[in-house]
Amino acid sequence: AMIDKGNHRHFMQKEIYEQPVVVAQTLKAYLQRMDDRVSLPIPDFDLSAIRRVTIVACGTSYYAGMVAKYWFEQFARVPVDIDVASEFRYRAPVMEDGGLMIVISQSGETADTLAALRHAREEGQKIAAVVNVPTSTMAREADLLLPTNAGPEIGVASTKAFTCQLAVLAAFAANLARAKGRLDAKAEKELVRHLAEAPAAINGALAYDEAIEAMAHHIVPARDVLYLGRGTDYPLALEGALKLKEISYIHAEGYAAGEMKHGPIALIDELVPVIVIAPSGPLFEKTVSNMQEVQARGGEVVLISDYDGVQAAGEGCLATITMPKVHPLIAPMVYAVPVQLLAYHVAVLKGTDVDQPRNLAKSVTVE
Ligand code: G6P
Repeated sequence: AMIDKGNHRHFMQKEIYEQPVVVAQTLKAYLQRMDDRVSLPIPDFDLSAIRRVTIVACGTSYYAGMVAKYWFEQFARVPVDIDVASEFRYRAPVMEDGGLMIVISQSGETADTLAALRHAREEGQKIAAVVNVPTSTMAREADLLLPTNAGPEIGVASTKAFTCQLAVLAAFAANLARAKGRLDAKAEKELVRHLAEAPAAINGALAYDEAIEAMAHHIVPARDVLYLGRGTDYPLALEGALKLKEISYIHAEGYAAGEMKHGPIALIDELVPVIVIAPSGPLFEKTVSNMQEVQARGGEVVLISDYDGVQAAGEGCLATITMPKVHPLIAPMVYAVPVQLLAYHVAVLKGTDVDQPRNLAKSVTVE
């Protein structure tokens, strides 16, 4: 069937708006709501022998992998090595018995990621592939295919594939945790319940589209933008910066909030907006103190948090964006929405080609 934009102005916008539905569709294959269990599409694949995980991907898919590293280590207590695919093969990575490589790719065809997969296979690793195109080369070559059911993604800048990758990786981390004896039935039930809340929470985030659009006007004149986050919000900061670079051509950098004092703080003045991604929770206070270091130097801050966070730290910010209050496990899926929408609106205001940004390709099949 022909894919059209429906009543959306761009494919990217349509794909951002599809996220509640496609994340639900994706989770359906990994959650058994009836008995509150997580499951794999290949139920007899034995995860219990896995002692190490290596994650390899490119671009936005790599940032989904960075988020997943926190989950695999926290829930399954399995050490995770992660790298961009173009570096992985050339650094003589150590791959021991009992290692699982997870490749993450929307297209399933990215040349660097495919080469990393083949290299790991030669080194005796089992291969899991989180891919959106079920007929792709990576899907065929993997031992364990973990499909994202995001449907065709047309916009060059990835959006819905990213949130679906997060959904699959969260469910996979829970499966691995159970196989390693680290997740009892009660904890599993809790995780399933939280994951199942993601589609509605993403929908809640989309409700702030107009507020984000209004805020985008402040970002348009900027030459440089900084994104800060801690924990799983650090990869989200990287993803936010990537989205802005890709489609609005504004230079942006994502930084771990606590690392800012080791360099980027030197850039801060009233002309460099700083986007702080900080849901309320155990890391909130730390991130806010980094945010205040920015404000003390005249920096303009946009705080993306929930109601409690905005109440506690929103004063003195250039703008605040209030997300629904969600469990930390699904926060990356929810907070992906405002960073996508911000990049989208800045690009539209600047008049760039949102779906086909200059110099970029949807799928990069050369090294
Ligand atoms: C290109 C696209 C990105 C994508 C990356 C990885 O750079 O423009 O949106 O994240 O490739 O693609 P993959 O298909 O492997 O996820």
